[in-house]
Amino acid sequence: MKQQEDILPILEIKNLKKTFGDNAVLNGFNMKLFKGENLVVMGKSGSGKSVMIKCLVGLMRADSGNIKIMNQDITLLRKTDLDLLRTHIGFLFQGSALYDSMTVRENLEFPLRRHKKKLHLNESSEALVREALRNVGLEHTMDLMPSELSGGMQRRVALARALILKPKIILYDEPTTGLDPITSKEIIQLMRHIQKTYDTSSLIITHDVDCARVISNRMILLVDGINYVEGTFAELSNSKDPKVQAFFKT
Ligand SMILES: Nc1ncnc2c1ncn2[C@@H]1O[C@H](COP(=O)(O)OP(=O)(O)OP(=O)(O)O)[C@@H](O)[C@H]1O
Ligand SMILES: [Mg+2]
Repeated sequence: MKQQEDILPILEIKNLKKTFGDNAVLNGFNMKLFKGENLVVMGKSGSGKSVMIKCLVGLMRADSGNIKIMNQDITLLRKTDLDLLRTHIGFLFQGSALYDSMTVRENLEFPLRRHKKKLHLNESSEALVREALRNVGLEHTMDLMPSELSGGMQRRVALARALILKPKIILYDEPTTGLDPITSKEIIQLMRHIQKTYDTSSLIITHDVDCARVISNRMILLVDGINYVEGTFAELSNSKDPKVQAFFKT
């Protein structure tokens, strides 16, 4: 039984379709995320990566297709059940999307206020906020405003906020975009540290080849609205297919 559980995907997308007017963005996209893995989805700018991740968390409605998270079909869930399911998913938005008018502490308390009871987290909010900030090395910024932090620090705070409910799945939308190479490396190391510490399953959307190389156990390329090809970084970067090669040329 345990074995079967390990093989079942924790998240599965089947035949996802989404069109805006005559812009067919997703044309039958398929994806499985298995427990404990770091899956990277790479695609060109405008290929539909953010649309896919927004459909996943229910911020956008797909035209058709199935999305199963922890064995539940999210299109069939009632709002209360969907809300509960969402508490198991941490989402790092493209950019950092911190609330500008709230301190770091208040930004982190925000998801706690809504969901802490449901999740039976026993620690105090203060302790959870401290723990999450400690994980990203920023405990000392607790009472600062986001505008007082550098871009890299803001990204780390956003990551701390995504972690605070101790999610089983973390979705990262372009975690390194807009950061300098050294700060990008720090964020990638942090993502690896978090994955090891909490045994989370991660879906990482990126067009950063370095990020993909360091973090991925497996990759999917999103091309023409479908999961065009999948494999390890080594397999894909050695592919002879020009559409695949295009991603790895520098
Ligand atoms: N709400 C919307 N209404 C209309 N079109 C949209 C909407 N959201 C996205 N699109 C279109 O869908 C396509 C894919 O957008 P998406 O944001 O998913 O790209 P992306 O792969 O995340 O790109 P990037 O790497 O630049 O973040 C684009 O052509 C975009 O214009
Ligand atoms: Mg995007």
